[in-house]
Amino acid sequence: MPSTSARTRSARNPVGAGRAVLVTGASRGAGLRTCRALAERGFQVYAGARGDGPHTEIRGVRVVQLDVTDEASIEGAVDAVRAAGEKELYGLVNNAGIIIQGPMELVPESELRRQFDVNVFGPARLTQAFTPLLRAGRGRVVNISAPTGRIAMPFLGPLSASKHALQALSDATRLELGHWGIRVVVIEPGSMETEIFSTAASASEKVLASLPPAQTAMYKEQFELLGAAAAKMKQHSPDYLANAVVKALTAATPKPRYTVGPDTRLVGLLARLPLRTRDGLIMRMFGLSKLKPAAA
Ligand SMILES: NC(=O)c1ccc[n+]([C@@H]2O[C@H](COP(=O)([O-])OP(=O)(O)OC[C@H]3O[C@@H](n4cnc5c(N)ncnc54)[C@H](OP(=O)(O)O)[C@@H]3O)[C@@H](O)[C@H]2O)c1
Repeated sequence: MPSTSARTRSARNPVGAGRAVLVTGASRGAGLRTCRALAERGFQVYAGARGDGPHTEIRGVRVVQLDVTDEASIEGAVDAVRAAGEKELYGLVNNAGIIIQGPMELVPESELRRQFDVNVFGPARLTQAFTPLLRAGRGRVVNISAPTGRIAMPFLGPLSASKHALQALSDATRLELGHWGIRVVVIEPGSMETEIFSTAASASEKVLASLPPAQTAMYKEQFELLGAAAAKMKQHSPDYLANAVVKALTAATPKPRYTVGPDTRLVGLLARLPLRTRDGLIMRMFGLSKLKPAAA
């Protein structure tokens, strides 16, 4: 138990006091939770959001209009943070993300580009735009990846490719910006209960509906098995991602990578397995090992 005086000190001078952090994708889901968790620790939070942003007012959180795919919007966000009086930034949390799913054979190039625009070029653009402020604050970049950043999953090829790319960009940036004391941290959360899956499902339904039925019919059995496996998948509160971001921003020496959530061990195990063994396990996890080989 901390002493009364220690509690009073920390209430008067919370860990985030005097430190500004920008979180992208803050309108809902894990981004919104992260904003709350940071504001509770005294950080001045800039919640990057498209449209109206979060529909609740949170003390210590200011909404900044931000579409991570739009250069002008990013410049506007830098201006807004400077105009609020910030001469330095302590944290940039690249959280905005989408899932593009579907068979790689059928995913349109435009959808692949959309996946990379948000999940890869977005964080790259934001990091470039905010590096001068981060340099002034000897700040930290926190990039939200996923287990798919280390292990590609079937029918999540675009997402897996984007998160692999994000991990590589993060590693390179960490090696480069360390010179100025800027730390770059990757967080790999497991499955969380947010709208990301339903948004992805409706986008992919639209795409599949626009394709010749004969093409999508080839994947009918896979889609059914995947649907059954997805229904059994457990999702958890995004709080653990929010807590990991707090840790990445407050630890004296943050780790380069935090794998968090209930699936942590499984992800670590799969990542170390020989590819054939890993493929077999993944196919079983998704129920796809039940499929008989297709006739030629
Ligand atoms: N949920 C999971 O199981 C899970 C697991 C591992 C990793 N992750 C990662 O966690 C992060 C947050 O995901 P989530 O589950 O919280 O998803 P979510 O509830 O769907 O929220 C995604 C956020 O990203 C924003 N966004 C999308 N496109 C954008 C753009 N072009 N510019 C700015 N913001 C944009 C959305 O804003 P709008 O409201 O404007 O669309 C929303 O605020 C993502 O990077 C995701 O890959 C999630």
